[in-house]
Amino acid sequence: MASKLNLPCLFLSLFITISVAELCHQDDKKALLNIKKAFNNPYILTSWDPQTDCCHWYCVKCNRTTHRITSLTIFADDRLSGEIPPYVGDLPFLETLILHKLPNLTGPIHPNIAKLHNLKFLDLSWNSLSGPIPDFLSTLSNLFVLSLSFNNFNGTIPNSLSKLPNLGGLQLDRNNLTGEIPDSFGYFTGEQAPSLYLSHNQLSGKIPSSLSRLNFTSIDLSRNKLKGDAFMIFGSNKTVQIVDLSRNQLEFNLSEAVFPQSLTSLDVNHNKVFGGLRPEMTKLNFQYLNVSYNRLCGEIPVGGELQKFDVYEYFHNKCLCGAPLGSCK
Ligand SMILES: *[C@@H]1O[C@H](CO)[C@@H](O)[C@H](O)[C@H]1NC(C)=O
Ligand SMILES: *[C@@H]1O[C@H](CO)[C@@H](O)[C@H](O)[C@H]1NC(C)=O
Ligand SMILES: *[C@@H]1O[C@H](CO)[C@@H](O)[C@H](O)[C@H]1NC(C)=O
Ligand SMILES: *[C@@H]1O[C@H](CO)[C@@H](O)[C@H](O)[C@H]1NC(C)=O
Ligand SMILES: *[C@@H]1O[C@H](CO)[C@@H](O)[C@H](O)[C@H]1NC(C)=O
Ligand SMILES: *[C@@H]1O[C@H](CO)[C@@H](O)[C@H](O)[C@H]1NC(C)=O
Ligand SMILES: *[C@@H]1O[C@H](CO)[C@@H](O)[C@H](O)[C@H]1NC(C)=O
Ligand SMILES: *[C@@H]1O[C@H](CO)[C@@H](O)[C@H](O)[C@H]1NC(C)=O
Repeated sequence: MASKLNLPCLFLSLFITISVAELCHQDDKKALLNIKKAFNNPYILTSWDPQTDCCHWYCVKCNRTTHRITSLTIFADDRLSGEIPPYVGDLPFLETLILHKLPNLTGPIHPNIAKLHNLKFLDLSWNSLSGPIPDFLSTLSNLFVLSLSFNNFNGTIPNSLSKLPNLGGLQLDRNNLTGEIPDSFGYFTGEQAPSLYLSHNQLSGKIPSSLSRLNFTSIDLSRNKLKGDAFMIFGSNKTVQIVDLSRNQLEFNLSEAVFPQSLTSLDVNHNKVFGGLRPEMTKLNFQYLNVSYNRLCGEIPVGGELQKFDVYEYFHNKCLCGAPLGSCK
């Protein structure tokens, strides 16, 4: 008898417990629901039910102490369409914002993203975003990774990005960026220069000589329209490991480039590089080397890793010879 009577009370108290125990901050919940609405209630956000605690929704993470939303990650969904909603700017504690592989995500980077001062990871790669790379990104001083790869961004690279003091990786590859690599990119102030991925754009002019000031770990400038030399990337006291300069219009004497001991991967294929391969190259621990389609001459030094590569990493040069190519006359 008693249990029958208590049952509704039990449900009621459970319900009260659940609603009282909602951890999610109501401002964050409102912002997320606005985002869902702006995207036209896509299937991927079905779990975003206003009746439930938003700390438990898919695609988001809450800080355990503050219960504020710190991460929003939506990826791999071609049914989600529209532009980046202004409401993303209403998640002030966001540290991670990933909108990735959403082929129907279009339009520009919304200016409200500048309000997200706690952002560390901003990954908007593999979408159909367009417009310029906005200057205001340089105000996000906690950014560690900025990835805008595989979109349709155009215009020039803002100088101001070098002001980001904590940047570890800058990925602007596979867009339609024009103009020069900013001279300011030799003046990043962080302890470690960011890895630079600027490939598959339409960048032109010379690689700025200011880059000699920094130790980059990884630098990919391939498939642009860069001219001149690349000496600023190398040097005996550098720590660069991976360098891809392939498919540009670079023209310099490779014999005069001093490769640091740290270099493990060098690709200069399809340029106008001349001179020859220095004997010191046999002392390097190359895991990848490609100097094909240039204007190199002379004998490939014998030793180290140099004979471990194929003909295809050396062919189509002016008069390069010796193993793995044919013997020198
Ligand atoms: C959650 O927020 C608190 C207070 O701001 C902070 O000390 C803590 O590091 C945060 N936790 C995580 C996992 O970020
Ligand atoms: C998304 O884009 C694909 C083509 O990439 C298209 O076929 C599809 O209809 C689009 N979906 C929406 C919801 O716009
Ligand atoms: C960027 O692309 C848009 C749309 O195609 C075009 O209107 C604009 O002029 C382009 N901007 C630059 C700097 O090329
Ligand atoms: C890149 O920009 C050029 C010049 O503005 C334009 O002709 C070309 O169609 C664009 N390419 C892509 C992939 O958007
Ligand atoms: C690069 O790193 C090396 C080794 O840590 C250091 O000796 C050198 O001064 C650095 N060069 C520059 C340009 O920062
Ligand atoms: C590194 O090398 C450059 C040029 O070779 C030289 O100007 C610079 O003083 C060197 N830096 C250090 C710290 O050895
Ligand atoms: C390339 O530089 C080397 C070393 O300074 C020099 O001996 C050679 O003549 C140069 N080659 C060309 C084609 O300028
Ligand atoms: C080196 O570059 C040439 C020219 O693009 C290419 O045919 C060859 O496959 C490349 N080698 C490797 C191992 O990627």
